[in-house]
Amino acid sequence: MVARGPAHDRGPDPAHDTVGEPRPPCPSPTKWTPVTTLTVSDRPASDLKVDALVLATVKADSGAALAPGHGLPKATGEHLTNALKALSAKGTPDEVLKLPAVPGVAAPLVVLTGLGAAPARGAWDHEVLRRAAGSATRALSGVAKVALALPGADAVAVGAVSEGALYGAYAFAGHRSQPATTTPPSALTVLTGEARDKDVKAAVKRASALAEARAYARDLVNTAPNLLYPQTFADSVKERAAKTDVKVSVLDDKALLKGGFGGIMGVGQGSANPPRIVTMTYAPSKAKAHVAFVGKGITFDSGGLCIKPPASMLTMKCDMAGAAAVAAAVLAAAELQLPVAVTGYLCLAENMPGGNAQRPGDVVTMRGGKTVEIIDTDAEGRMVMADGLVLAGEKKPDAILDIATLTGAQQIALGNRVAAVMANDDALRDLVRDAGNSTGDALWPMPLPADMRPNLDSQIADIAHKGDKFGGMLTAGIFLGEFIPQRDKSEARIPWAHLDIAGPSFNESGPWGYTHKGATGFGVATLVAVLERYATAG
Ligand code: BES
Ligand code: MN
Ligand code: ZN
Repeated sequence: MVARGPAHDRGPDPAHDTVGEPRPPCPSPTKWTPVTTLTVSDRPASDLKVDALVLATVKADSGAALAPGHGLPKATGEHLTNALKALSAKGTPDEVLKLPAVPGVAAPLVVLTGLGAAPARGAWDHEVLRRAAGSATRALSGVAKVALALPGADAVAVGAVSEGALYGAYAFAGHRSQPATTTPPSALTVLTGEARDKDVKAAVKRASALAEARAYARDLVNTAPNLLYPQTFADSVKERAAKTDVKVSVLDDKALLKGGFGGIMGVGQGSANPPRIVTMTYAPSKAKAHVAFVGKGITFDSGGLCIKPPASMLTMKCDMAGAAAVAAAVLAAAELQLPVAVTGYLCLAENMPGGNAQRPGDVVTMRGGKTVEIIDTDAEGRMVMADGLVLAGEKKPDAILDIATLTGAQQIALGNRVAAVMANDDALRDLVRDAGNSTGDALWPMPLPADMRPNLDSQIADIAHKGDKFGGMLTAGIFLGEFIPQRDKSEARIPWAHLDIAGPSFNESGPWGYTHKGATGFGVATLVAVLERYATAG
């Protein structure tokens, strides 16, 4: 008889697979959203031969006023002011009004998008510009060519308008048998007096790269979970990366078993679709730093044996939004040729209650040797992430960031628009928060209290993966932190930040700003902005 390890180390045995054959590979799981083009122009707004011209309105005491800086003839301005009055316009965010045949404007349609009240002093908040541009383009289904003349003169403001307009001009084609009924604008022009400025050009290029990346992340999340499972996710990343400077390697279930990745193997063993860890490497020659990203990629979270009620399960295709953000951000870093080395780890598994599923009470051995007692099979994210964090730590990067739809407790604490950032290093936590907030991804710092660690004590293993019912977002973060290795022989661990994006990753309510229903693409811009900070530091 062949000697084998204890049952918990063995993982699924292909010869005794009770859950059936994996589904055949699906080469094209989704119709990828086409890229919207964006250019800048310094031509007068009134002359442009586009299908729609977007202008901004401001909330004033007497109702809506036209925002300054549009450069239209006086008579046109007066016409629009009268129209705003007749429509009882308010100028508030997400108010989008359409006026056909405005005298003095070549475009057949003028669109007025609300900014809200003007800032007491200084420039417009960039996120206000992003959202106003996005509400406008989101409302322009079926309109091909769109120009935007919004306030904000500097390159960063032009970049924000560009980002918002592109983020809004997104529609998931879905899996319909007939062509989609919503077709977002295909060509955008942002008007600015500084169209030839090199900072403006760079900002627009960056906006296009961010938007393309964000659309990819949204597409991955929106794709139905029977079509996007670990292998097809990995295939898609390989295909996308093929013509870029990003190298992709995939650990399949055999390699994961051999490598001792008991966390992800345990989660995946109840599914007919075995787990994968995808490693994406972008290593430019003059890298200023090396940053690792680890993303949670549960392509569907049923809860496993601790099965979720149907209402909570319905949106659980979004449980790979962290991995989608990582994949998209690494591709964007290469597209922008950032002088920072990035390694992205996508921890892909499906959490299902098949005949070989993991049990509460199981003990698994993680990559690196730590043993974990399984308390609740629905706390699967931290198990796949811990293996990914150990793998990331083996390369001793300068910093590790992880991003995960990790806990319902995050939603309870911060709602659906603000994500949490926790870290073992205050400077890194502040850097991530500031980088995120500059992109429009709202991040709020949360603690990792050392005195909550005993919550995770296990009677029989090194650690349990779940504590009591209070502060669930924090205990999940504390659990992950245990898998970050020391930097050298010093005591200190590698600087690490953890983003819990459970709420903001998927929008179940109505659309707003540049945020559509369904996948939001939250986190993509934050990860890129963090890399940019490493690129310019030191
Ligand atoms: N994927 C969920 C967290 C989640 C909830 C993401 C809502 C997006 C929206 C995660 O795997 C989970 O099930 N967490 C459990 C943890 C618990 C069992 C300790 C939760 O939050 O209930
Ligand atoms: Mn779960
Ligand atoms: Zn999950």
